[in-house]
Amino acid sequence: MIPLSVPNISGKEWEYVKDCLDTGWISSAGSYVDKFEKEFASYLNVKDAVSLVNGTSALHLSLKIIGVKTNDYVIMPNVTFVASANSISYTGAEPILIDIDEKTWQMDLNILKEFLKNDCQINSSKELIHKETQRKISALMIVHVQGNICDMEELLSITREYNLPLVEDAAEALGAKYDNNFAGTLGDIGCYSFNGNKIMSTGGGGMIVSKNEEYIKNAKHLSTTAKTNPLTYFHDEVGYNYRLVNVLSAIGLAQLEQLDEFIKNKILISEFYRQNLQNIGDIRFQDSIDAVRSNEWLFTILTNQMQKLLEYLNSNGVMCRPFWIPMNQLPMYENCIYISNKDTSKKIHNSALSIPCSTDITKKQLEEVVSKIKYFFDSSSKSS
Ligand SMILES: Cc1ncc(COP(=O)(O)O)c(C=O)c1O
Repeated sequence: MIPLSVPNISGKEWEYVKDCLDTGWISSAGSYVDKFEKEFASYLNVKDAVSLVNGTSALHLSLKIIGVKTNDYVIMPNVTFVASANSISYTGAEPILIDIDEKTWQMDLNILKEFLKNDCQINSSKELIHKETQRKISALMIVHVQGNICDMEELLSITREYNLPLVEDAAEALGAKYDNNFAGTLGDIGCYSFNGNKIMSTGGGGMIVSKNEEYIKNAKHLSTTAKTNPLTYFHDEVGYNYRLVNVLSAIGLAQLEQLDEFIKNKILISEFYRQNLQNIGDIRFQDSIDAVRSNEWLFTILTNQMQKLLEYLNSNGVMCRPFWIPMNQLPMYENCIYISNKDTSKKIHNSALSIPCSTDITKKQLEEVVSKIKYFFDSSSKSS
């Protein structure tokens, strides 16, 4: 089976992990934690980073740090992995779901603007209030879906106008760029994931970055059970055990050293597929705006025959996966406010299929994927 997107362990992972094991530094403190955070921040041209157990905890902490409270609303796109919405629920707040753009599959900023203009108002304390429910909207979480990025210039001007803190869910977009800025470094806080299927992996892991020193300090504090003194057991608020351990940071450091290579490979894979699948059946691709260089994290095609192609490929040695079910179709979020004109989320979900694109996929495997997709469309055109 050609896998969908698996970790590529070909650098100094063994060497660094062995060092942890040999020295006994395997747990929540150790030199690899510091090195990984420092190198990660330096890669993204930010001052500081905080490593965490996963991307979900990074999102949860970020929302807490910027002040999201029970009963607030947080605006987010309707199409993402469920962790984005869950992290909002963990704070006691509720998502407001915005439909996506048909071309880029990112939050539709025109729909967002209409919603803010028609359905919201800024009160005398400069808080954004949802008119109908009179509840506060305390943040916007943008998700850089599939490693692509929306028009950030436009988004930043919207969040400034409406006084909305911006959390970037860059779980899938590590290394993607908007002009010369990395995804995750443009908003108030950026969050990343090192889950097994991501562009680099620590097995499980995550990271927060921010230019705001208070936020970074707070993230370190809250993620280490809000301990105020390392020698005594004094904790000054309800904290979390969210820190990434040394042995996983060691893997992270080794992976980070290969990140440029991984991004290069993902871009080459995308170019290969775009060239070789462009005239097959009704296949279409995700677009990016000019200012964006996607990291091409998970190559995904659109076809009206998605369901049949999914079954055919999965039973013929090519692992593939449909897109996430839009949040408004999940039982825990179906009653959330969903702002949409024509439910583009549903349209994209019904036709999107992710195909193999691991960073170490071989040319032969890529050719095999293309030839099986060609065969599928040739046979289905003959039989119709
Ligand atoms: C968009 C998005 N947000 C959040 C997450 C959560 O990250 P993690 O699995 O590391 O908790 C993921 C992926 O897993 C994701 O794709």
